[in-house]
Amino acid sequence: MKHLLNPLDFSVEELNELLDLARDISNNPQKYSHACDGKKLATLFYEPSTRTRLSFEAAMLNLGGSVLGFSSANSSSASKGESVSDTIRVISCYADICAMRHPKEGAPMVAAQKSRIPVINAGDGGHQHPTQTLTDLMTIRELRGSLDNFTIGLCGDLKFGRTVHSLINSLIRYKNVKFILISPKELRVPDYIIDTLKENNVEYEEVEKLEDVMPQLDILYMTRVQRERFFNEDEYLRMKNFYILNKEKMALAKEDMYVLHPLPRVNEISVEVDDDPRAAYFKQVQYGVYVRMALILTLLGLNK
Ligand code: CP
Repeated sequence: MKHLLNPLDFSVEELNELLDLARDISNNPQKYSHACDGKKLATLFYEPSTRTRLSFEAAMLNLGGSVLGFSSANSSSASKGESVSDTIRVISCYADICAMRHPKEGAPMVAAQKSRIPVINAGDGGHQHPTQTLTDLMTIRELRGSLDNFTIGLCGDLKFGRTVHSLINSLIRYKNVKFILISPKELRVPDYIIDTLKENNVEYEEVEKLEDVMPQLDILYMTRVQRERFFNEDEYLRMKNFYILNKEKMALAKEDMYVLHPLPRVNEISVEVDDDPRAAYFKQVQYGVYVRMALILTLLGLNK
C-alpha cells in the first residue's frame, strides 16, 4: 500500500506517469467517470481549506466514487481528545482512501503508520503540501511543456509556506531549474531547504526586492503571508503588505512568464492582474482537480 506524505514519495518516473494520466483525464474526463464506482474517499481536515478539500471531493465524485469526512477538528472527536492514530483506525473501516490536513507537522505520517488505507497528506503545518506540489508541477508542465530549463521566483512567506518547501524539494530533481527566493529577511526559506539546494548543486539566489528580478523570471510563484502561523500579530501586520504584485510590476516581466499562486490570496496579487494572460492561478485550480483524480486512481491501483 502506498501513501503520499511527501512529494518525494514518488520518483520522477512515477510523477511523469501521474502527470501523463492527469493530462489524459483533462482531455477525456468521460473515460474516467466510473473508474472509482463503489469507492469512498474520506477527507479528514483538522484545519480550514477551500481548494484542497473540495478539489479532493470533486475529484472522487468525478471518478464515480463517494465522499465522507469532516472539515474542522471541532466537528470531529478530536475535540474530545481522540488521537490521530485512533481516528485513522476508525476511518479505515469506513473508506478506501483518505486525505488529511492537520496543523501539526508529521500528523499524516503518524496516521499512515496505523492506517489500512492509503493516506494523502493534504498539508501538515508549515511542513509539506504534496498535492499542491502535484498541482503546481502539472500547471508548469502544461503551460511550458516541460519541467526542465527555467527560472522560478518564489515570493512572499518562504519561511512558513509549506507549498514553497514542497515545490523546491520536487523541482530540484529536474534539469537546469534556477531558484530566486524573494522574501523579507524575517520570512526567508528555512536553513534545511538552503542546505538541500547546496547539497544538490542547484543554482539559487536570495533577494528582497521583487522588481529587481522580474525580468529574469519564467515562473513567478506568489504566496500569502500566513497570519495563522505568526505568534505575534504586530509582526504579521508589518509583513502582510511587503509584496503586492500589480500592473506596474507585471510590465517588467517577460511576455511568456506565468504567475502561479496556491491561493487563497489576500492582497499580494492585485485583482487588476487577474485579466493579464500571464495570470495562471485560476487555471492552476482546475489542474488541481485533474491531478488529484490521477492521484486517487494511482494510490488505489486503478491507474492501469
Ligand atoms: N492551496 C490550498 O491549499 O488552498 P486551501 O487552503 O483552500 O486548501
